[in-house]
Amino acid sequence: MKIIRNIVELRQEVKQYRVTSTGNGKVGFVPTMGFLHEGHASLMSRAHDLSDLVVLSIFVNPIQFGPGEDYETYPRHEEQDLALAERQGVDIVFIPTVEEMYPTQTLTKIMVSEVTQLLCGASRPGHFDGVTTVVSKLINIVQPDQAYFGLKDAQQIAVLQQMVHDLNMNVEIVPCPIVREADGLALSSRNVYLSSEERKQALVLSRSLLEVKGTFDSGESVNVSEIRKMLIALINSSPIAVIDYVEVLTFPELDRINDDVLLHDITGKLIMAVAVKFGKTRLIDNMLITPK
Ligand code: PAJ
Repeated sequence: MKIIRNIVELRQEVKQYRVTSTGNGKVGFVPTMGFLHEGHASLMSRAHDLSDLVVLSIFVNPIQFGPGEDYETYPRHEEQDLALAERQGVDIVFIPTVEEMYPTQTLTKIMVSEVTQLLCGASRPGHFDGVTTVVSKLINIVQPDQAYFGLKDAQQIAVLQQMVHDLNMNVEIVPCPIVREADGLALSSRNVYLSSEERKQALVLSRSLLEVKGTFDSGESVNVSEIRKMLIALINSSPIAVIDYVEVLTFPELDRINDDVLLHDITGKLIMAVAVKFGKTRLIDNMLITPK
């Protein structure tokens, strides 16, 4: 496994691979902010299955954190990350510094409208501009055939698919399923912030989503406000849960659905997406449901 910290070298390495693989080898790319866990590992494993050369990036991207967010304290553990990457059979790890990625004052930003204005985009203004800008830069640097993202951040996938489509970027966005702990908690680098009591309470998220999904899958005729009400009541059964948002939208378009529409009459997938604070830590989770 090669560890590369500079852009020119990374480009050379991928170019070299393309020449030696006589143009047939697919380059798969897994962008991350490190502090890697089994959720990230699942993306690497998928990349291993579908692509030939697997490139992982580890970069805590300052421009996607808002003022007062956790950029400074975001957990970092390079040595542990490299060991996990090695176990997953990653070929190249790209670990640029902030100076390497943003050497001078940059004047260009990639901004996707509409799909960035709700859910996490509404709670974290500017967050998705930081994500689309850094992912565009990384894709331009690596020039992968496929880029792998987790449905844990479903809105991120919706935004990036829109960006790749709108800008004719020559890369396929591959969505990968959410990896959960055995008790249901979605893996996240931020779970380390939770006290043991908060972690216990946080299980209310997956339990609530699963219960409502069960009701929906049993064919019950419901509209959006009914589903939202059920989710809100279940989440509020935790005394420390503070809801940021609970939404049910179409996926991946993220369109709102009127209350006069029965959800089983819709064609295509829906997403139930929640963001909830436990103490100082804001967690997100979601589940997709498919109308019958
Ligand atoms: P990060 O939070 O490190 O996540 C990197 C990738 O891992 C994302 O695609 C995310 O959806 C996926 N992931 C995280 N937890 C997961 C889980 N439990 N199951 C499945 N996949 C999971 O997302 C980012 O970094 C950044 O915004 C980035 C895209 C790297 C741009 O800076």
